[in-house]
Order: sequence, then C-alpha cells, then structure tokens
Amino acid sequence: MRIRLNYDLSAQNTFRMKVSCACYVEYETVKELEGLNFDRLPKPLLHIGEGSNLLFTGDFPGTVLHSNIEFIKYVDIGFEDVPVMVGAGVAWDHFVAEACRHGLWGAENLSLIPGEVGAAAVQNIGAYGVEVKDILSGVVAFDLQERKKVKFSREECRYGYRDSLFKQPDSKGRYVITSVLFRLSRKPAPRLDYKGIREALEGRDPQTPQEVRDAVIRIRRQKLPDPEEIGSAGSFFKNPVVSREEFGRISPDGSAPHYDLPDGTVKVPAAWMIDRCGLKGTAEGGAAVYEKQPLVIVNQSGAATPQEVLALEQRIINTVRERFGVTLHPEVEHI
Ligand code: EPU
Repeated sequence: MRIRLNYDLSAQNTFRMKVSCACYVEYETVKELEGLNFDRLPKPLLHIGEGSNLLFTGDFPGTVLHSNIEFIKYVDIGFEDVPVMVGAGVAWDHFVAEACRHGLWGAENLSLIPGEVGAAAVQNIGAYGVEVKDILSGVVAFDLQERKKVKFSREECRYGYRDSLFKQPDSKGRYVITSVLFRLSRKPAPRLDYKGIREALEGRDPQTPQEVRDAVIRIRRQKLPDPEEIGSAGSFFKNPVVSREEFGRISPDGSAPHYDLPDGTVKVPAAWMIDRCGLKGTAEGGAAVYEKQPLVIVNQSGAATPQEVLALEQRIINTVRERFGVTLHPEVEHI
C-alpha cells in the first residue's frame, strides 16, 4: 500500500492535466482496501483507474484511490464458454491481449482501449460494435457505505451506452469494483459489421481473435492519438441520439452518417457534426480538436490547462448547437 499527501496527478490522468490531490492511496489487495481507515481520509473520495476518461478541472481536495489488484484467472475446464475473473487494476488491453493469445473470442473488438478493467465495467466501454456488457457476467465490489463485499449480476449493473448503475447519482462513488467476471468463448464469433473492420482485414476471414485484434489496432492507430505521445481522454463527447424529425433537420437529404436504433431514434456521430462545423484543429491555448478524429480533444502543447480544455469544450458545444440544434454532452467525466 502507498499513501501520499499533496500528490501530483500528472501521471494519473491521460489528459496530462497538472493537478494534485490532498491524498493519494494505492492498494494491492482487497484486504488492504477493506482495512483502510476511511473516516480519516480527506474527503471526498474518488476512485480512478488509469485516468483515461477523466478531466480534472482543478486540484482535488480529497483522496484519490487506485487499485493495483492484478490477476487473470481462467476457469477453463474444456467447455466452449470460458469464465475469466480479472482484477480491477489490470490494464484493459493487457487482458484483451491475453485473451486473444489464448484464442478466446469476445474481447478482441475492444483492443487498445486505454484504462483498467474496473473502470471499463463502470463505463461500459465500447468500440467497433461491441460493449463490455456483451462479455461481462458479473462484478465484485466493496460497498463503501456498508463497508462490505457485494456482487452484481450483469442485469443488476444496468448497462446502457457508456452508462451503468455505478454512474447513477445514488450509487456513484459508493462501490469500488475489485474484480470482474467475463465470459469468453472458444467458438469463433467474429463481429465485423462495424464500418472499417472488414476493410482493415483486407478481405480475409479471420480465423483467430488475434487477427481481429490486429485489424482493430490498425484502425485505432490511424485515427486516435497515442496516449504515450499526446495527452487526451479518448472521445470527449457522447454520440447524440435524436428523433427522426430532428435527424431530418440535421441532414435534410439523409446523407449524414447515422445509426438507426431499435426504438426509432437515430444516433448521429458527434465527430461528423464537429467536422461539419469546421472545428478540426481549433485550439484554445494548448488544447485542440484532434485533426484525425474531431471527437477527441488533445493536450496539444503538453501544457494545456483545465480552463483551456473547458473553454474549447464550450466553444464546440455552442458551435454545434447553433448549426444543428443539438446539445453535445461530454463522455469524459469532469472532476
Ligand atoms: N467522422 C467525420 N469526420 C471525421 C471523423 C469521423 O465525419 O473526421 C464521422 C464518420 O462518418 C465516421 C463517424 O464520424 O463514420 C464515426 O466515427 P468513428 O467510427 O471513428 O466512431 P465515433 O463515433 O467517433 C465511437 C466511440 C469510440 C470508439 C469508436 C469505434 C463514442 C463516444 N465513441 O467513436 O470510443 O472507439 O466509436 O467504435 O461512442 C471512446 O469512448 O473514448 C472511444 C474512442
């Protein structure tokens, strides 16, 4: 266990905002977490993963907690389905890479997403037609209110688009996820319908999850900034869902990219709207709209401040609202 006071969080957020917290606690085991003297820690408490979906808007007055619970346990007894229990502190892509190496299907479309396993289950991360909820069967957590271990089935996690029970106002911050149970499969189940995947496979029929993983990695490397090189928090905004009528106003000839949802509504890529507003490359101080994927705000200079990111966010929201009458909502959590 590591406890630090007045801790610099630059390395704990992929946006690389230079902010600090009053107290930082990193624990290695569930026992250490349960044994913490929560009453004595500066409040509020904030549990983070890799900090890849956060925007710190200033110094944090409370305690930032981080899990180093790292294990991957396969329950492989020869069935088609293979349950896998994974510690919350495992890097998400480490888990995906391992699963692919073992020839297990299910996680490959979610390759190269930054972050850790616990946070992936909070956020219901998704990419290329797959969401975490599609392969998750349950979550084990520590309830900070009752101070006891709790379990949630997938249904109890109430997953939606980038949403879960753990993000609802009455549960937010209450549960610390300690491990996640996934269900992977030996049976080939490639999901290749998302635009771009088949092209990246160059006409081949993938025989292994590794082939799909490699294709996804190729696409992501082309479009998304490498967190090692340039600070960002991935997609900054959620893709808005609008009614059919609204979509008709956004794109009278229907040519805008869109996905029809089963309930009759339409999801429109925020990236397209931001692009159409001519905002690619727009900057506020050191923060800029990423040229290759305008849904991403990057810390272009390496020294962007939270205020510059917030100013750019507001500029994008206002411009898109004026042009399309749609209000974008951030996907990145503001702290
Ligand atoms: N587009 C443009 N101009 C551009 C870029 C994109 O018009 O410069 C349009 C294109 O029509 C493109 C569409 O926007 O087809 C959508 O772009 P893309 O397929 O790259 O996906 P996205 O909607 O921008 C979402 C997720 C990503 C995920 C990708 C792939 C959200 C908020 N974002 O992005 O997730 O990797 O799909 O599945 O749902 C993240 O959450 O951090 C993230 C990166």
